[in-house]
Amino acid sequence: MDDTTPAPAPSATEKLAARPATVGPGSAKPTLPDAQTVTQVRHWTDWLMSFRCTRPASLRFRSGEFVMLGLPGEDGKPILRAYSIASPSWDEELEFYSIKVPDGPLTSRLKNIREGDQIILRPKPVGTLVLDALLPGKRLWFLATGTGIAPFASLLRDPDTFERYEQVVLMHTCRQVSELAYGRDLVESLADDPLLSEMFGEGFADRLHYYPTTTREEWPIMGRITDNLTSGRVFADLGLPPMNPADDRAMVCGSLAFNTDAKKVLEGFGLHEGANSDPREFVVEKAFVGEGV
Ligand code: FAD
Ligand code: A2P
Repeated sequence: MDDTTPAPAPSATEKLAARPATVGPGSAKPTLPDAQTVTQVRHWTDWLMSFRCTRPASLRFRSGEFVMLGLPGEDGKPILRAYSIASPSWDEELEFYSIKVPDGPLTSRLKNIREGDQIILRPKPVGTLVLDALLPGKRLWFLATGTGIAPFASLLRDPDTFERYEQVVLMHTCRQVSELAYGRDLVESLADDPLLSEMFGEGFADRLHYYPTTTREEWPIMGRITDNLTSGRVFADLGLPPMNPADDRAMVCGSLAFNTDAKKVLEGFGLHEGANSDPREFVVEKAFVGEGV
């Protein structure tokens, strides 16, 4: 590089690393307020990725909750967005599953993170998709579109879920087949999960019914979650009785349009929406704000 060539702009991680350290003198690497280190990155499609990072010692959360995470922007100010924690509450690390929005303020940067990079994570978990927001029941339904599967990736790996419910059903619907890969991988890994197998025995995975569907690309089972529920197809395919308020509980996570329609369908089966302060038969949370990409 000659003297006239401008120095490359510092990356988000370099900027983060340049901020003042909060740990005492003598620590090997500057650590920043609310910074965590990325330990693993996996790209599932051009527009979907997952990553794992270190967990703040102070962070206690309930499986299904979300936190604010981000990176510093051009001006050094953090760009923070809500993210469901996809790992269970007992995990030593944290996992996240993310969209890559082409011009998204955060994700156009987040898509470039690598192992060893730092991200900002505010350790203040909140959310409605928690087991305590539901009344006891026999079956728990997870209804997710797109990245809305993230909170259920946490809950599915939490022994509490299988302790409270005899059966768990995961309905995950995406436009294309490739978008189902993260969920499929997760479900396959559950069969070998040492903690769950030890607690519930080798065959515990039979208590989980997985119902992945697509809407815009050929796949063995197609159709929107709402349609497969109202037509009764999912009950017939899985050999389950139609939903009823005595036995069935549900958690919903997707776009606003999906959440609105799923809520109507669940209410049609006689279920009522609950909250942390008022546990009922189902709870809903947005997977993102705004229109789909
Ligand atoms: P933004 O400016 O935030 O979004 C730009 C546009 O992209 C939005 O208007 C919307 O049309 C679209 N979009 C944003 N996020 C998504 C998405 N997830 N799926 C489809 N379209 C989207 N995102 C995740 O990827 N994983 C999560 O676990 C997750 N959990 C969330 C939990 C809550 C409670 C909320 C409110 C949002 C969550 N989001 C999640 C969305 C996330 O907060 C950001 O919107 C997303 O990371 C994109 O950030 P951005 O700055 O790049 O673009
Ligand atoms: P479809 O392809 O029929 O629109 P998106 O990427 O738009 O968020 O959609 C993710 C998945 O959710 C797609 O399979 C989409 O089906 C489905 N979906 C979108 N809106 C609704 C809705 N209002 N009710 C049920 N499913 C929906």
